[in-house]
Amino acid sequence: MSKNKILITGGCGFIGSRVIELLADSPHDLYIIDNLSTGSKENIPLHRVELAVCDIRSMEAYDYVQQIQPDYVIHLAAQIDVQTSIQAQQHDADINIMGTLNIIQACVRLASLRQFVFASTAAVYGNNKDLPLTEQSSTIPTSPYGQSKLVGEQYLALTNHLQGLPYAALRFANVYGKKSYAAGDVITSFWTKLKQNEAPIIFGDGEQTRDFIYVEDIAEALIEAMYVSTSGVYNISTNEQTSINDVLNIMNHLLDQNISSENKAERAGDIRDSRLANNKFVHHTTWTPEHTLKTGLQATMHHKNNQVKVENK
Ligand SMILES: NC(=O)c1ccc[n+]([C@@H]2O[C@H](COP(=O)([O-])OP(=O)(O)OC[C@H]3O[C@@H](n4cnc5c(N)ncnc54)[C@H](O)[C@@H]3O)[C@@H](O)[C@H]2O)c1
Repeated sequence: MSKNKILITGGCGFIGSRVIELLADSPHDLYIIDNLSTGSKENIPLHRVELAVCDIRSMEAYDYVQQIQPDYVIHLAAQIDVQTSIQAQQHDADINIMGTLNIIQACVRLASLRQFVFASTAAVYGNNKDLPLTEQSSTIPTSPYGQSKLVGEQYLALTNHLQGLPYAALRFANVYGKKSYAAGDVITSFWTKLKQNEAPIIFGDGEQTRDFIYVEDIAEALIEAMYVSTSGVYNISTNEQTSINDVLNIMNHLLDQNISSENKAERAGDIRDSRLANNKFVHHTTWTPEHTLKTGLQATMHHKNNQVKVENK
C-alpha cells in the first residue's frame, strides 16, 4: 500500500475518532482539523496524527489544507444537532455551508487531491415516504440541518462539474455507538437514563422508525469511499427499519430491565420514518454493514458498561 496524506476534519469527534482508529495501523500520514467544540483530544492517538486546532470556516484551516496538500480529505466537521439547527439557523448554515465551502475551495486546485469524502445525512430526504429511499429519491429537508447538508452536497456536485473535484457524499442513516460525551442521539440518551434506572424520554408515540447503523460500519464506509471512482451521493445504511419503542425493548432486554418510556410531544423537524437502500454503495465497493442493531447495541453497551447480558443469537 502506498503512503498517502489523509486529512480528516472533525477527526476528534464520535465518527472521526473511529476513522482515525481504523487508519492508525496504515502507512498513511494522518492530519486533523478540529476546533474541539464537541470533539476531544482524548479521543485520538496524538502521537499518530498531526492536529490543527482551528475552525473549518477560518483562513487558518484554508492555509493548512494548502500547506499539507492532502491526497484525500474526509470532511466530517459540522454542526450536527437538528434542534440547534432550528434554534440557530445562521450558526448551522455558517458552519455546514460556509465552513464546508472553505474546505472545498482550499482543495479545488490541489493537484494532489484524489477524493473529497463528505459526511451527509438521511435528513436531506426529510419526510419523503417513498421507502426505502434511494439516491434518486426527492430531497425535501424538514430541518435547517438537512438543508445545510444538502447545500454542501450541491456545492460538491457543482465543483465537480466546474473544476473536476472528485467526491463522494455519503448520506448516513442514524449512527450509534460508543461516545465519549452525552450527545443528543436516541441510543445515548436512552443509555444515560436506563443506567440511572430512570424512564427514557420518547418524543411522540415511539412508533416512528429509523435505520440505525453502527459507527464501525460508518468508519469503514468512509475509508472505502476514498477509492470510489464515480463521484456522487451514496446512502450508507443497513436498509433495516426499527421503531424507537423496539430500540428501547432491545436495550431493556440486554440490560435485564423493564423500564417504560416517558412520552413527550413530537418535536418540530423530526422525521416520521426512515430507511435507506444501500445497494449503490455496496455495488461500487466491497463494503457491507457488518452489524445488526442487536449486535451493534451489544457492542455499544459492552463498551459503556460491562454489565450487558451477552447472549447467544
Ligand atoms: N452521528 C450521526 O448520527 C450522523 C448522522 C448523519 C451524518 N452525520 C455527520 O457525520 C459527521 C460527524 O458527526 P459526529 O457524529 O462524529 O459528530 P461530532 O460532533 O462527534 O463530531 C464533529 C467534530 O467536528 C468538530 N467541529 C464541529 N464544528 C467545527 C468547526 N466549525 N470547525 C472545526 N471543527 C469542528 C467537533 O469538535 C467534532 O470533533 C458530521 O458531519 C455529521 O453531520 C452524523
